[in-house]
Amino acid sequence: MKVLILAAGLGKRMKSKYPKVVHKILGKPMINWVVDLAKDFGEVGVVIGYKAEIVRNYLPNDVKIYLQEPQLGTGHAVMCAKDFISPDQDLLILYGDVPLLKRETIENLKTIHEVNGYNATVLTFMPEDLTGYGRIIKQGAKVRIVEDRDTNKEQKKIREANSGIYVFSGKFLLESLGKINNDNAQKEYYLTDVVALSERSGTMLVEDPIEVTGVNDRIQLAQLETTARQKILENLMLSGVTIVDPQSTFIGPDVVIGIDSIIHPFTIIEGRTIIGEDCEIGPYTHIVESQIDNNVRVVRSEVEKSVIENDVSVGPYSRLREGTVLKEKVKIGNFVETKKSVIGKKSKAQHLTYLGDATIGEDVNIGAGTITCNYDGYNKYPTSIGDKAFIGSNSSLVAPVNIGKGAIVGAGSVITKDVPDDSLALGRAMQINKEGWVKIKKGVTDNANNQE
Ligand code: UD1
Ligand code: CA
Repeated sequence: MKVLILAAGLGKRMKSKYPKVVHKILGKPMINWVVDLAKDFGEVGVVIGYKAEIVRNYLPNDVKIYLQEPQLGTGHAVMCAKDFISPDQDLLILYGDVPLLKRETIENLKTIHEVNGYNATVLTFMPEDLTGYGRIIKQGAKVRIVEDRDTNKEQKKIREANSGIYVFSGKFLLESLGKINNDNAQKEYYLTDVVALSERSGTMLVEDPIEVTGVNDRIQLAQLETTARQKILENLMLSGVTIVDPQSTFIGPDVVIGIDSIIHPFTIIEGRTIIGEDCEIGPYTHIVESQIDNNVRVVRSEVEKSVIENDVSVGPYSRLREGTVLKEKVKIGNFVETKKSVIGKKSKAQHLTYLGDATIGEDVNIGAGTITCNYDGYNKYPTSIGDKAFIGSNSSLVAPVNIGKGAIVGAGSVITKDVPDDSLALGRAMQINKEGWVKIKKGVTDNANNQE
């Protein structure tokens, strides 16, 4: 089977500068929900039109793209992808703005289509509000769909509606597309008219209308977001993850979490994030596109495109940016920012620190207020710190610079030169004590005042 996704429409009611299908549900654009589902069933084609260049940017490289310009209806959209249809394969039609369709539903639709040898099999549903939906009329082995605007009084009462999702035999579809016209209320080429040309068609009714409900405005976008969110959280809970407060937890569709991990309130986890077992994440934590192993604690922190190994503790108030790797048993504490840095086993940066473009060995202690000065206004430079080194508080490490194994950097140092292994580096003004200076100064001043 091949899958063709229609996504050329305008989406007027979104009141948006952007095409409808790039609006997101749980951080993932609608079109990508549909493409990911479609890929499970075969080669994928997408018809784009309205603001096509924007939609194109969201599509993976392995889908075929067809341009529909201007947009003259759903039938016309399929005609624009004629080259994609093969006569010896079935074609599944999906909509780019119907993101919550279930895999099982498509499997069942496919089975019904194949077992009965239909030319067209229509996925139907019974929406509460029928406005805008085509009605299903069955006569023997024939199915006809009458668009809402073209219905008569009797047809208007029909409750079974067209979802717009179908499986067609490729051969039948290729033969029929040339036979439809735009002789209707909207002067459009209706894909529904192809169904009427078939002598052998069937339908399958979906129980839960939400599955095939499209997004037309931002109210529906929020409704689908809520539905999708609930479903994902339920699945996670049923698979052994504790979600303390589902109301305040947002987890994307591509997130994987291991058993006995606990997600605390006000936590958002997005993208292709993988979290292992026995982790505690949150409260007040945001994680994007990251890999977290087992028994990791992340509290009140931001984590983006980072890797965290076993038994690491992060936060509160840490910010791990792109390219951070924390090896086993690392501790990153409050107001610590990391970027493109690898931090070795058991090393600690507990307070008020910036580590950028740094490679840090094992068992290193990074004192409070340590800054890697990695940027001179033009370029970024690396810092490396050897195993068991100790960086005193409030030190500035001016990159490029290497701190040797076992070296100690005195607190308050500005380090501009490499420090050899096992050495003490002091990069600060020598302290001077002037004994009794305060008393002497006071005596002089007091005498001067008395003379007035
Ligand atoms: C269509 C069906 C209707 C069904 C409804 C379900 C037709 C004629 N009618 O309604 O029976 O109940 O879907 O939602 O097919 N699109 C294009 N190019 C176009 C027009 C639409 O790619 O020229 C895409 C849209 O982006 C959207 C989908 O097709 O993803 C449906 O378009 P929409 O205008 O919402 O559907 P209707 O034609 O109103
Ligand atoms: Ca629609």
